[in-house]
Amino acid sequence: MPTYQPAILADLQEHQWYVHMSRSEGADLALIKAELQKLRADCAAQGVNLVLWFGPSLLKDLSSDIPADFQPYPGYTSPDGSKVAKGTQEELLIWVHSDKKGLCWETQYAFRSAVEGHMYVARETPTWIYKNSLDLSGFIDGTGNPAPEDQASVCIIPDGQPGAGGTFCIAQRWVHDLQYFRSLSLADQENVFGRRKADSARLPTQVPRSHLSHVELREGTSGDESTSKRHEMVRRSTPYAFSSGVVGLYFMGFSQTQAPLRERMEAMYGINGQETDAVTDYSTPASGAFYFAPSVESLDAALS
Ligand code: HEM
Repeated sequence: MPTYQPAILADLQEHQWYVHMSRSEGADLALIKAELQKLRADCAAQGVNLVLWFGPSLLKDLSSDIPADFQPYPGYTSPDGSKVAKGTQEELLIWVHSDKKGLCWETQYAFRSAVEGHMYVARETPTWIYKNSLDLSGFIDGTGNPAPEDQASVCIIPDGQPGAGGTFCIAQRWVHDLQYFRSLSLADQENVFGRRKADSARLPTQVPRSHLSHVELREGTSGDESTSKRHEMVRRSTPYAFSSGVVGLYFMGFSQTQAPLRERMEAMYGINGQETDAVTDYSTPASGAFYFAPSVESLDAALS
């Protein structure tokens, strides 16, 4: 069985840094490959967790081990046009996490400096863990994740398939309107997610616009506990706050196939005929992209 990049499912450390990059005109792929290898060695030597994620266009130039149905992020708009999750697909996402913020900065910065003129930084976000894994709304984020021992089998492509040992991700920077969210009553806030604020207990009744009614995929109706879950995913989302006052959630979700990620976004934006997800009333993604993290063996071959 190919080995998945261990930092995907390693315990999330206090600090994360996300850097999205694409190739510049005339980029030297051999140089980029060599610098990616140096970044891997640097992170390994310094004990920094690193995951290399590739967009469809760079992956096909590096590897013949391409997973099925790997599409660029299309962007999503609600049918009435009022809610938009814009697409900002890039070619490479570097994700580092460590308990030392300085090392997150140092490792990613060394790479981006070394590839200057060959790759440019499209956007970056440093994030952190807030208390007991809280979203800035004050709700616990991560409760519905599969148990730690099941996460690899949920999100890593099994042996024998193209891309085995790899995983897909959706990466989005959501911008929160906290003033609006805080103006809601506690009951309305809890109905946004379908869970209680104090302890994340699931509400017995899911209103049609609750988050769980959109993203908790079931054999029957989404969010309806009477049937079993299907196409589960693993999440590692964390908050960020910019000095400009912009705050929100950096959403990272992993899946064995990409279609269930698209299905959840289509549900949240009402593209499947559901009402939109109430989360979209207080938060809007400023960026969104799909990537793939190849197995360690596939990465070794691609970068050699
Ligand atoms: C601003 C954006 C978002 C916020 C603040 C948010 C927050 C939450 C919260 C508080 C929960 C309930 C507790 C938990 O299980 O973690 C939850 C559950 C979940 N969210 Fe989100 N979420 C966001 C976006 C998304 C997106 C874009 C997806 C998928 C594409 C997604 C997928 C899920 C899943 C799969 C669950 C668990 C459902 C289950 O229990 O099976 N979320 N989210």
